[in-house]
Amino acid sequence: MQLTIKHPFLCLPVVSHPKDTRVLKLFDGEKLLLCVYFPFGEAAADNGTYSYEYLSPLPVSEWMGRTLTLSAEFPAGFEDAVTQTDELPVSGEVHPAVHFTANAGWINDPNGLVYDNGTYHLYYQHNPFGVNWNNMSWGHATSTDLVNWEHQPIAIAPDALGTIFSGSCVVDKDNTAGFGAGAIIAFYTSASDRQVQSMAYSLDNGKTFKKYARNPILTSTQRDFRDPKVFWHDATDKWIMILAVGQEMQIYSSANLKDWAYESSFGEGQGAHGGVWECPDLIELPIEGTELKKWVLICNINPGGPFGGSATQYFVGTFDGKKFVNESPKNTKWMDWGKDHYATVTWSNAPEGRHIALAWMSNWQYANNVPTTQYRSGNSVPRDLSLYTSAGETYLKSSPSRELLKLRGKEEKKHSFKVDRTYNMDKLLSDNTGTYEIEMTIKNRNAEVIGFQLFNSKGEEVDIYYNLVEKKFAMDRSKSGVVSFSSDFPVLTLAPIEGNSEMTLRLFVDKSSIEVFGDDGRFAMTNLVFPSEPYNRISFYAKGGSYAVSSFKVYKLK
Ligand code: FRU
Repeated sequence: MQLTIKHPFLCLPVVSHPKDTRVLKLFDGEKLLLCVYFPFGEAAADNGTYSYEYLSPLPVSEWMGRTLTLSAEFPAGFEDAVTQTDELPVSGEVHPAVHFTANAGWINDPNGLVYDNGTYHLYYQHNPFGVNWNNMSWGHATSTDLVNWEHQPIAIAPDALGTIFSGSCVVDKDNTAGFGAGAIIAFYTSASDRQVQSMAYSLDNGKTFKKYARNPILTSTQRDFRDPKVFWHDATDKWIMILAVGQEMQIYSSANLKDWAYESSFGEGQGAHGGVWECPDLIELPIEGTELKKWVLICNINPGGPFGGSATQYFVGTFDGKKFVNESPKNTKWMDWGKDHYATVTWSNAPEGRHIALAWMSNWQYANNVPTTQYRSGNSVPRDLSLYTSAGETYLKSSPSRELLKLRGKEEKKHSFKVDRTYNMDKLLSDNTGTYEIEMTIKNRNAEVIGFQLFNSKGEEVDIYYNLVEKKFAMDRSKSGVVSFSSDFPVLTLAPIEGNSEMTLRLFVDKSSIEVFGDDGRFAMTNLVFPSEPYNRISFYAKGGSYAVSSFKVYKLK
């Protein structure tokens, strides 16, 4: 079909669970502008209408006035349903309010997290043409405060070497690569029938990238060879690249970011091995209350997480620029004890020496099937990482980044009360629209179980409790709302806890997710939920004794 471009967006009608994904091409005369897999809807029924669920926006302003050709095996009626608009078409579907999501389309891993000149860049795995994993590109958003994001055009699109898988960015302050001092350099995996590492550089503050003419920069015979994380290692004066390769991590070094030398591999016999290792990170973190620092290797694994599917494990140890050594090989450590916290990586070049992590808030077991229509998936809230020691072991602490305090709107109510049976406290959340933060301090007297349920008028509920006998913190989402899209979804997740007499909890509830931070991030638990109306009621209960909620605050967010 031919179209004369008169408005900045082409609106292409698609579905969220395509039976059939076909190739769609866009040409300007002979010149191929775009070639993607496209989620067509159903061919016209007898009454001639093509059936689709939402409009996939294609920005076309650069071809204004030109006549372009869209070509595919179109289902009957498709061509009549294509329109053009001045504004991005939105479905009216409610997105999370304080978590990053794309305006439209699929997202997975955060990529290329880098801070430069006052701006946090978030690139991310993105399919702009549908809400299933496909056509991997680096989407882009920017922020000055980590919590308010501005959408930007696609930063890196597929090319002859393949689609653009996960990776990282660095700021090349000293021009070691020769693209210019201060260039932002992206490292990513070019994925086709093989996986190779490529680089691209930006000379306009991360807006646009030019691919390096000599890509790929690193190849292998291994099938799973991906997700390069690059950082500067002061002690050896070298760049380091850590890569996920099957079920291990490989470490390379370089002086110029282009030529890489293999240093070592890490992984055999260490931690969980229920699936492939992906999206590594390697950072040096301070241990709270000491002058010491230790290295942490972040290792995302899929499947093989503690509750099935994807999860983030980590190792604590030493790194000398060549080799990472895990200090406690017998212990498997998890960064978050929910089911929806994956592909965690940290910002490069963050100010004040901060190590700020961001995760993709989903799980490969059901990510493609979660019940959203025009957008699919978002990120976690940003978390500042540090280390703490408990019983001789060093663990990662994930504290909600301080910028999240900015999102607090009206403080709704402050309460303190004693719980020795069940209390329905309907009014605490009653005028809430599903996006709020709860902060509470609990003083245990002699309870065995300290719990509360978030629920709504439909009887949908999430049960959240401490079991102090078993020293576990739990979240049960089996009756949380829409759960039937996957048998892997309705589950109970558990985190080991210390179980002190005083405990603090922060919960971020945002339409379709709950993130819990215990004792300022000594444990974290992130789970998706799909209630059919907001959880605007709460009920507390105690078993086997009583406890006091010495402080309970609810904040509307944004
Ligand atoms: C992790 C991952 C990465 C890969 C990307 C592809 O979720 O599988 O290993 O680069 O997603 O989208």
